[in-house]
Amino acid sequence: MTRLRSVVRGCGSYLPRTTVTNDDLAARVDTSDDWIIQRTGIRQRHIAEADETTSVLGIKAAENALRDADIDPATIDLVICATSTPDHTFPSTATQIQAGLGIQSGAAFDLQAVCAGFVYAVATADKFLTTGAASRALVVGAETFSRLLDWEDRTTCVLFGDGAGALVLEAQPGEGRASDRGVLTSQLRSDGRHREKLYVDGGPGSTGTTGKLRMVGKEVFRFAVGSVTDVIAQAFEATGTTADELDWFVPHQANRRIIEASADKLGIAREKVVLTVDRHGNTSAASIPLALDAACRDGRIKRGDLVMIEAIGGGFTWGSALIRW
Ligand code: UT7
Repeated sequence: MTRLRSVVRGCGSYLPRTTVTNDDLAARVDTSDDWIIQRTGIRQRHIAEADETTSVLGIKAAENALRDADIDPATIDLVICATSTPDHTFPSTATQIQAGLGIQSGAAFDLQAVCAGFVYAVATADKFLTTGAASRALVVGAETFSRLLDWEDRTTCVLFGDGAGALVLEAQPGEGRASDRGVLTSQLRSDGRHREKLYVDGGPGSTGTTGKLRMVGKEVFRFAVGSVTDVIAQAFEATGTTADELDWFVPHQANRRIIEASADKLGIAREKVVLTVDRHGNTSAASIPLALDAACRDGRIKRGDLVMIEAIGGGFTWGSALIRW
């Protein structure tokens, strides 16, 4: 049966100018290159300078995705920006990205599901595109998490970095089969009972300040490996596909140990896992599109490949999407 699919037309990303190594951090807090690599796999991260706001990073990533898609920005009728670090409380970062690209029609809004934000944004754009409510969507994940960090807290400040990535999705007719190109399924979950395990201790409606990130890392780790693989199993089930058929697994890049344990649990071969956490750290909603773009640029992800994206973030929120490239 013919149905609309959200097909990837282009992919792009952008990283701030400045890189910070583990040794740089060891000069500021009581940590070491060995500890960070062993526990997380992170070797360096990019940190935004004052002029590199979330919208600035998002615009550059979007420009690269639009160039890759080879389409006129004016034909984009939906911009969604997944971020927890907007330039301002309002207006949305998405509207600033829209304006920065010279787009004057269609709708733009931010979506906040922390590290799962990009998966949520792809799922949301997919609903717009497959119902005919939009025809071309720009889905951006952009973050400046460095602005939320307590730089004296070694248990969190070594983990995160800044950056942005973007996809251009376009509504195209498909057959309604798993062999179609485009987003084949998305599975979203949340459970707000876990707030205290990962949160920011401020906000416009409570303290009137931005606040700092707080995390009980061990608890998040346990949940990430133990529970969130449900959304991946559901994606396989919904599409009648299997881990063997997958070409690339592109999970949220928080910790190499979480990623490898999840892949092992699901029977996804290690060589199909795209890892960028070593170079980028945890860039929250930006981590998946940054990893997708890295794997597209180096020739791993190709047209027709079956790609699983998956993430967990504060809330908790988590989700997956299975995409035929
Ligand atoms: O993106 C949203 C999702 N977030 C995540 O997925 C993060 C999930 N959590 C994790 O990735 C891991 O739990 C961490 C990397 C945060 C921590 O790894 P861990 O193996 O769970 O270590 P731990 O928290 O149990 O800490 C082990 C030891 C502690 O010392 P004691 O109590 O054993 O003496 C910590 O104080 O390591 C110490 N420690 C550090 N040592 C050096 C904690 N942070 C550091 C540090 N450098 N930066």
